[in-house]
Amino acid sequence: MKFTLGSVTVIADGPGVMVHTPPLLLQLQQAGYDVDVAATPSAALFTTPYAPALLTGHPAARWPLPDTALTPNRAILLAPSSLNAFKALPANERQRLENSPAGLIVAPALLPDDTPSDALDEWRHLASPRWLIAPPTAHTPLGALGDILVASPETCVEWVRRWQTPQDLAGRRILITAGPTAEDIDPVRYLTNRSTGRMGGSLARIAARRGAAVTVVHGPLSCPLPDLPGITPVPVRSAQQMFDAVDAHLNHCDVAILCAAVADYAPATYSELKLKKSDRGDRPHTLWDMPDALPLRRTPDILAHLGSLSPRPFLVGFAAESDHIEENARLKLMRKGCDLLCANDITEPGSGFAVHTNRVTVFTRSGDIHRLPQLDKDDVARKILDLVVQALG
Ligand code: CTP
Repeated sequence: MKFTLGSVTVIADGPGVMVHTPPLLLQLQQAGYDVDVAATPSAALFTTPYAPALLTGHPAARWPLPDTALTPNRAILLAPSSLNAFKALPANERQRLENSPAGLIVAPALLPDDTPSDALDEWRHLASPRWLIAPPTAHTPLGALGDILVASPETCVEWVRRWQTPQDLAGRRILITAGPTAEDIDPVRYLTNRSTGRMGGSLARIAARRGAAVTVVHGPLSCPLPDLPGITPVPVRSAQQMFDAVDAHLNHCDVAILCAAVADYAPATYSELKLKKSDRGDRPHTLWDMPDALPLRRTPDILAHLGSLSPRPFLVGFAAESDHIEENARLKLMRKGCDLLCANDITEPGSGFAVHTNRVTVFTRSGDIHRLPQLDKDDVARKILDLVVQALG
């Protein structure tokens, strides 16, 4: 496995080493980190030095950590740690960690009797600002101790990424639309499209990683949104519901990025009863027969609506095109009144729906064109957000 993102030392403390540490070590490595583990004396009661060695490929690190382990490009991840265990760290050891150039991240473990908001206040009071606090997001069963609430391995990995990432969207509110919409014909059938929501998920993940508070209004997704602090999902089904939810959440947004593949047409009427096949023979036509041609109505255009507002957030649109990309993209940018328009050719392999990559060209209102190479969708999101940050100044 190639470890390209950097090095992490996990300090495992207490019985969490049995349950929380193994998936954390594996997920850190899958994400691209070279990982080793130091077990505190209380964790050493529950494990042997061989277990971490097996999972990381490195012998267990010494505890307390030697100065050589406290380098600027290494994150020290204390996960999980109860408040009492944190208090019990020898004062000089804590001081030595805090004086070091290493990144410090702690994942507080809240016990069944703790009130999360009070416990987190106490943590913020106790831990110096040098510690990034990975918020508790997942219930982890710890046998006799009951369920502890602690940052999931996914959240811990994300906090290591956040430690490495400039917070250039801190304090910004970003609204994203993602995925397809579904337009119901009857209780069984509906009209939709091939969007999975992956591009919207990438934009949400990277914007939240850079410090933004992100709201994602999304249709039925086949690629789930990242379940991470800083990302608020608002599920909807139809284009009209997406329009209403965007309207309701637009207040105080600095940026709106509309990458949903919104259905342009919906059935003119919805049938409460399942429509029947129309091989009626001589039987008279009823309201519950599937018509030979489905009458459609236009859905509201969310992007064009936002583009017509004043004031309005900084507006980023997408354009899925199969021909005359540049011409269509420029027209869409002007017609819908957006600031940036990200166009992609859906006929090109590795670009568009249901793949991990995309090749996007970004058009700006002032006429600039940024042609991005084919990239992983997270990297596409990064480049688009770079342009947003640059424009916001
Ligand atoms: N969009 C929207 N509401 C709609 C239709 C599209 O907000 N009812 C947004 C999309 O989220 C995207 C942009 O408009 O940001 C362009 O969407 P696209 O499907 O490429 O274009 P359409 O306007 O639907 O035009 P056409 O299908 O004719 O290309």
